[in-house]
Amino acid sequence: MLVLGIESSCDETSAAVLADGRRILSNVVASQDDVHAPFGGVVPELASRRHLEIMVPIVDRALTAAGVHPEELDGIAVTHGPGLVGSLLVGCAVAKSMAYVHGKALVGVNHLEGHIYAAFLTDDPPEQPFLALVVSGGHTALYHARAPLEYALVGQTRDDAAGEAFDKVAKLLGLGFPGGPVIQRAAEDGDPRAIAFPPARMSDGARDFSFSGIKTAVSLYVKRHGPLSASAVADVAASFQAAAVRMLVRRTIRAALDLGVKRLVLTGGVAANGPLRAALTAEAGQHALHLHIPPRDLCTDNAAMIAAAGTARLLAGERADLTLNAIPDLTLAA
Ligand code: KG4
Ligand code: ZN
Repeated sequence: MLVLGIESSCDETSAAVLADGRRILSNVVASQDDVHAPFGGVVPELASRRHLEIMVPIVDRALTAAGVHPEELDGIAVTHGPGLVGSLLVGCAVAKSMAYVHGKALVGVNHLEGHIYAAFLTDDPPEQPFLALVVSGGHTALYHARAPLEYALVGQTRDDAAGEAFDKVAKLLGLGFPGGPVIQRAAEDGDPRAIAFPPARMSDGARDFSFSGIKTAVSLYVKRHGPLSASAVADVAASFQAAAVRMLVRRTIRAALDLGVKRLVLTGGVAANGPLRAALTAEAGQHALHLHIPPRDLCTDNAAMIAAAGTARLLAGERADLTLNAIPDLTLAA
């Protein structure tokens, strides 16, 4: 079964060809960092314009690299939400046009389910039931995957997404965009115990996350102690990263133990973070939880994960018609 995946929910333009829901024949990802870096964040209008310029050549490249002709495809899977409406529209329009012209099955994929399905593109795919921590630039949530294609939301951020916090702190420290990788790099030279950024306390004991408190603490620190030397920047980056990782790991492990699941999935752009991968691996090991983490390039936005989720939905008989539309606030579960 050959499925073309198309992803354009935010600032990566991507197309991939996947065989049998598991084997990546091609996965072309064009980052737009050069477009947005001067602004220190994603500019939605510029993102959709860039998608519009390069989506068709990117799809061509993915098909050519896979050695697959459109006629040979069994289906086309496209991210239809959540994300930036203009960006999503470009992917949807291209996917619908191709499905119409070549007479192919079409399916709309939830971007967050795509992130979860990245874990199925490894030699050790997870088996339901599992708990998935999806940490990206726009979302930070815990999903209980009780059965295939069935999810319950068991926790989420009450304010900023984890990736958003990395991006904002990087901006405060003058480190550039996107924030995650530059914070991780700066933190390598810093002391994670240098500054105690307090984790938010949730009085109701919910499994939710909160990052605005840590972010505000960093902002106050920078105001009080600025301008910072390079070594002070490294210490702030390391201390912030440690606080964010602690928050993510503690809440996730507690939720897993409460729910009695034995398997964990860590995914989304922030799951590319080395210290987060290491800390969750260590804690999961302590509690005999089997942890599945996709390789870094499958954690950040890519179309292979969309094709993987799309294949599962096509096999379950799901089909979209040409009324398929972008849904910016699409949810995965209540
Ligand atoms: O999943 P993703 O590629 O796009 C969204 O769906 O949002 O996630 C992007 C986010 C950005 O906020 C970026 O700063 C963060 O993932 N990120 C990282 C790392 N690499 C990317 N955060 C921490 N450490 C990293 N190494
Ligand atoms: Zn994403």
